[in-house]
Amino acid sequence: MKQTKRLALAAVLALSTCATWAQGLKDAYKDYFMIGVAVNQRNVSNAQQQDLIRKEFNSITAENDMKPEPTEPREGQFNWENADRIANFARQNGIKLRGHCLMWHSQIGRWMLGDNPTKEVFYERMKKHIQAIVTRYKDVIYCWDVVNEAIEDNANATDPYRQSAMYKLCGDEFIEKAFQFAREADPNALLFYNDYSTVDPHKRDRIYNMVKKMKDKGVPIDGIGMQAHYNIYFPSEDLLDQAISKFKTIVKHIHITEFDIRVNEEMGGGLQFSRDGAAVTDSVKQHLADQYARCFRVFRKHKDVIDCVTFWNLGDRDSWLGAANYPLPFDTEYKPKLAYQYIKEMKDPAWNLPPRPARKPRPQGQQGRRRGGQQAQRPAFNPDMAFPEDPNVKEDFKPSTKNQPGQQFPMVNSQGIVRFRVEIPDAQAVSVSLGLGGQGGTPLHRAYDNSWVGQTAGPMDEGFHYYHLTVDGGTLNDPGAQNYYGSCRWESGIEIPAHDQDFYAEKNVAHGQVSEVRFWSESTKSLKRAFVYLPPTYGQNKKEKFPVLYLQHGWGENEYAWSNQGHANLIMDNLLAEGKCKPFIIVMTYGMTNDVRFGGIGQFTAKEFETVLVDELVPYIDSHFQTIAKKEGRAMAGLSMGGIETKLITLRRPEVFGYYGLLSGGTYQPEDIKDRSR
Ligand code: XIL
Repeated sequence: MKQTKRLALAAVLALSTCATWAQGLKDAYKDYFMIGVAVNQRNVSNAQQQDLIRKEFNSITAENDMKPEPTEPREGQFNWENADRIANFARQNGIKLRGHCLMWHSQIGRWMLGDNPTKEVFYERMKKHIQAIVTRYKDVIYCWDVVNEAIEDNANATDPYRQSAMYKLCGDEFIEKAFQFAREADPNALLFYNDYSTVDPHKRDRIYNMVKKMKDKGVPIDGIGMQAHYNIYFPSEDLLDQAISKFKTIVKHIHITEFDIRVNEEMGGGLQFSRDGAAVTDSVKQHLADQYARCFRVFRKHKDVIDCVTFWNLGDRDSWLGAANYPLPFDTEYKPKLAYQYIKEMKDPAWNLPPRPARKPRPQGQQGRRRGGQQAQRPAFNPDMAFPEDPNVKEDFKPSTKNQPGQQFPMVNSQGIVRFRVEIPDAQAVSVSLGLGGQGGTPLHRAYDNSWVGQTAGPMDEGFHYYHLTVDGGTLNDPGAQNYYGSCRWESGIEIPAHDQDFYAEKNVAHGQVSEVRFWSESTKSLKRAFVYLPPTYGQNKKEKFPVLYLQHGWGENEYAWSNQGHANLIMDNLLAEGKCKPFIIVMTYGMTNDVRFGGIGQFTAKEFETVLVDELVPYIDSHFQTIAKKEGRAMAGLSMGGIETKLITLRRPEVFGYYGLLSGGTYQPEDIKDRSR
């Protein structure tokens, strides 16, 4: 009786197991290789997607969450939360876990190389990172992509290696070190070199040569990862077959690590691509199914060396290529496509490989647009992925008030820390001149989306700053920010909110006007410009005369500075509204200071400017505006170089100015004024 009960129970269990374990891709391929998928946080948290993973796949890879930067955003500060969630999902479901990736030029914390460390320091950092992550997931990760994408794409390049910062510092020794550190940390994990475009003969041969050379030297490389970001036109079965056949002469393990097939002409693992896709017609669906069928036919042929084929993302909705590329066996709703059927049933392709369409260069500015003129759905930039969490940095960043219309970056937080982001896809090195004193600015690094991002090492001084970008050695402005004349050029400007910003804030008070006047300068034979601030009450009474302040800018600036970035007009309006000063006119002209060479300030006499100011501009202003046209009605002040000018000119022409102010740029010494009555 007991025996019968037990049998019945076993039958029920077997039936129910069958029902939940409906045959998935992994079952169809159990005699060939594992079928894997790259997963994100949503995939492992959502019940329906978890079910799909359990049903179809027996290996997973973290799409981003085990990469160097997300796991160690700052030196020694590890962030395991997301990686743990994926590892736990694998542990709980008995699914194998591929580790991706230990060393890559992309998605690596800028602390690793950003401060130009010595080779020894870099190796130490690399070793600690590798030891930490490999040790943590030793129980569940059975293989690691140790080095990712270290080979050059350009067929004409003489150096076979990608010119990454790590390569430039260490040559190919960093590859050896990475494998050695990984082997030391986990002697049982299979260690892979992983790359894209591995079927292109030039890149294939470079990878082959590199791996062979390293293995001959005893570097512990167990396998080659072929990313396999393909399209419906490429590669042919022959090319794929040739690459696998060649690689298997030197390694015992090949993994197809990041398989997807675009329906447009692009391919490869480069992080620059359009998300245009193509119209998904029935024939495109067939081409997709056929190309998957072709590739799997080659993979099956090489089952002796291929252990695992991993799709890069669960469904089109997750794809890094964007859903319009229609790249995966599951669509945006996680429904299987025709391609799924072809893969699972191991069908032969219905048609021949279509010829690759002739490349039409896309007109400038059309990148990122869908056919039919619609804007492509490029996922919004995700700051969380580009700027790792830091307990010392408040996440209350706002676009700088000096940004160009609609621009998010640069951003400033309440501590005065600045974040930059610029899109310069082909740049090799980008930095920003703004940074903490003595550090020469802030280096930017490539973010996950190929833009350049960076953050000042700490809070900046309050108020306005000029800055510029240095891109591959050249000086450029930040396209996100407005330009202001400073440092003898129109520079990018940024405002760090100041604790006392209220005194220059834009308020609903009576506002004066700043008008631009052009006056002829006979001494220099040129037309010059001045800006004239007129207080709100100016002109109301035609007889009222106003005092005038001649206000000079500093070195590197010009006549725009005071009323533009200096907000002299707003400051006046606010002071007047609060009854803190009496109305007066301010005249701001170019002090001709920018021709003075550095080091030559001692010889600077301001003589030419004195003539322009006192003999040409002052009479112009007195004849065109309601001024108190005498010494008692005139003041001169200046900042820095403008202060030097003020001192020189007021001392030489005491009959013109009754008041003066040196806003840095010197002091009047007792001997300067010893013979003067006022
Ligand atoms: C991609 C991810 O899919 C994206 O989400 C991320 O923004 C950039 O990286 N080669 C690799 C993968 O080795 O790590 C890349 O993954 C795709 C190209």
